[in-house]
Amino acid sequence: MSVHISAKKGEIAKVVLQPGDPLRAKYIAENFLENARLVSQTRGILYYTGTYKGKEISVGASGMGFPSIGIYSFELYTEYEVDTIIRIGTCGGYSSDVKLFDILNVENAASESTYAKYAWGFEEEIFSHQGNIFDVINETAEELGLKARATNIHSSDIFYRKDPATPAIATKYNCLAVEMEAFGLFANAKHLGKNAATILTVSDIIPTQEFISADEREKALKPMIELALEAALKVI
Ligand code: HPA
Repeated sequence: MSVHISAKKGEIAKVVLQPGDPLRAKYIAENFLENARLVSQTRGILYYTGTYKGKEISVGASGMGFPSIGIYSFELYTEYEVDTIIRIGTCGGYSSDVKLFDILNVENAASESTYAKYAWGFEEEIFSHQGNIFDVINETAEELGLKARATNIHSSDIFYRKDPATPAIATKYNCLAVEMEAFGLFANAKHLGKNAATILTVSDIIPTQEFISADEREKALKPMIELALEAALKVI
């Protein structure tokens, strides 16, 4: 047990897939894993452990934003000896340079957030994926015939804002899209010497207000989920 996860030691695998949404974790456990069992449901943040093609893997939620992913990823790495976290999420595109359903493999996450500075004393405003799981995802995408574009993204504290213009930090680092967690995950992994990657599916295009409907989401996220699971197999 950790402060926010009620699984016993040994009940979480070395590799964890981490969507933001607890119900997405449940969907992945029920539809992609064999013998999945619920190992934690504290605060409704569901964690499951099962096998994928015979290898043990866990899937559980991060919640939204740096405070939430900061807590869950830290406890997974430090209390459960997790080696690798693959975040699988959605993002909003800043321009029509990305399209709905595109899959992004995040190379660097830039943020105005003070999370990494006040947590770990890091002064950087941009963090890279950590370890070799990013490369494994690229190789795996190629083998599966999937396009996973390596790109920089903006990790923001803010979903709703007054000014509709693309934030300066996103322009500075050529960030094609925005989400709310990768920067926190990468900072924790860097501090702890662990492995972390983030794969995103573009779920909305901010300037045109196009978005993937709720009905389409499950089907839309399937290629990303399969990519994450197949990449995970190679590091277990
Ligand atoms: N902003 C922030 N996070 C997101 C978005 C967005 O538009 N879409 C999906 N995650």
